[in-house]
Amino acid sequence: MTLPIKASDLFDLRGEVALVTGASSGLGWRFAKTLAANGAKVVIGARRVDRLQALADEIKADGGEALAIALDTSDHAAIRNAFDEAEKAFGTVTLLVNNAGVSGTKPTINVSEQDWRDVLSVNLDGVWFTAHEAIKRLIAADRPGSIINIASILSFRASKTLAAYAASKGAVLQLTRALAVEFARNRIRVNAIAPGYIETELNSDFFKTEKGEYLKRGIPQRRIGDPSELDGALLLLAAPRASSFMTGSVVTIDGGQSISLDH
Ligand SMILES: NC(=O)c1ccc[n+]([C@@H]2O[C@H](COP(=O)([O-])OP(=O)(O)OC[C@H]3O[C@@H](n4cnc5c(N)ncnc54)[C@H](OP(=O)(O)O)[C@@H]3O)[C@@H](O)[C@H]2O)c1
Repeated sequence: MTLPIKASDLFDLRGEVALVTGASSGLGWRFAKTLAANGAKVVIGARRVDRLQALADEIKADGGEALAIALDTSDHAAIRNAFDEAEKAFGTVTLLVNNAGVSGTKPTINVSEQDWRDVLSVNLDGVWFTAHEAIKRLIAADRPGSIINIASILSFRASKTLAAYAASKGAVLQLTRALAVEFARNRIRVNAIAPGYIETELNSDFFKTEKGEYLKRGIPQRRIGDPSELDGALLLLAAPRASSFMTGSVVTIDGGQSISLDH
């Protein structure tokens, strides 16, 4: 048994180089700020570079280190380029937050082949190629690492008009487990966070509508979550000391929604 450790040491991310995909808004924005606030150098990727630059400026103003990179995770060459740029600036990426995602809500009968591909190419292919690139480079550098995939309660529950999204997020969970098992021997941990409804600029108007209010009543805590309520799980899975024996796990953060039969 080792001596007790202080929380500030347990979750210290100094020495880690993080890549957060989809950091230009919502949860990714918050993830990048939280990792930087705890010492990680963060590389932030998404398509809206102006927003990434604003985030990088905020992180730097708070005393952190950040690099904004244009990244479309449905483009494999862009993924490789992001890792190259990250390595040039900070060294090997040791912490990947696979967060970029789209919902593609549409009645299934109207979903075209292109609609399906648009969701799967970001939510599944993008997660796979980004994780694959991270793993190859960690092994080549002989470094341990942590990959955190952002799944959803729709990874294990279903909802109308979200078939492609639910299929992609279910696959993300299995991908998490498959990679965890295969790369444990390389000291690479792969875990997932499955959020329920979390307020971001994308859905905040919806939750003020009658349908949104109805939905909230089905959540045992009777409210949706705030992005800050994912901080603890993020830091737990990111910090090598805090979760050294955790891999293939999924942390669900949903106010009890996914285990409730009540409405
Ligand atoms: N909020 C929730 O209630 C909730 C619940 C469960 C799971 N999630 C998951 O959490 C993640 C973040 O969602 P959010 O709520 O924060 O939504 P959001 O505010 O819409 O953020 C999505 C992010 O993904 C990026 N993105 C989309 N397509 C991309 C692509 N092709 N390449 C690179 N980046 C791309 C967007 O940036 P650009 O447009 O600038 O590229 C944006 O930064 C998603 O995976 C989502 O499925 C969210």
